[in-house]
Amino acid sequence: MKKKVLIIIVAIGYVIVTVLSLPDTPKVYSEDMDFLAITNPPIDVQGLVKSACYDCHSTEASFPIYAYFPPISNWIKGHVRHGKGKLNFSKWESYTIEEKREILGLINDEIVKKEMPPSNYLIMHSDAEWSKKESEMVISFINRLSQELEKP
Ligand code: HEC
Repeated sequence: MKKKVLIIIVAIGYVIVTVLSLPDTPKVYSEDMDFLAITNPPIDVQGLVKSACYDCHSTEASFPIYAYFPPISNWIKGHVRHGKGKLNFSKWESYTIEEKREILGLINDEIVKKEMPPSNYLIMHSDAEWSKKESEMVISFINRLSQELEKP
């Protein structure tokens, strides 16, 4: 009998923890804030950035079902929140011109140094690994955008 009560308490506790830790960013996605929607890069660049960067740097992140249950959810949330801290493509329009310029510079660095996407992500998402030509395409777009921002 005591065992049953204990199991029920643990089960209720688990449900409460699960509900409390559901993704805290509601999936509000607005085209007028989104990087790709606003900057409208060539279609190839759009696909590359979306498949390689949006999982961690946008509100659009899509997760498998197990991602909603602790402790996995906590780990993923930490990871995503960490990545989004500085760069959330879904919030692009809310950044000031200085911030945008800084972010574009960081994106450039990350791609050149091949630090993004993180190598552990590439193990499971080989499609996010870019060829030299693909990297150059994205970089040239990023740099062009950055120059356009410099104009008054
Ligand atoms: C698996 C998740 C993941 C993916 C995919 C990913 N990032 Fe990141 N990104 C992170 C995390 C986590 C950080 C924070 C890293 C840190 O502070 O060391 C980060 C940080 C950054 C930063 C800020 C760097 C800085 O110096 O502050 C930039 C810029 C960036 N990522 C760009 C990109 C680009 C561009 C892509 C696609 C090519 C990408 N990321 C793909 C997780 C990811």
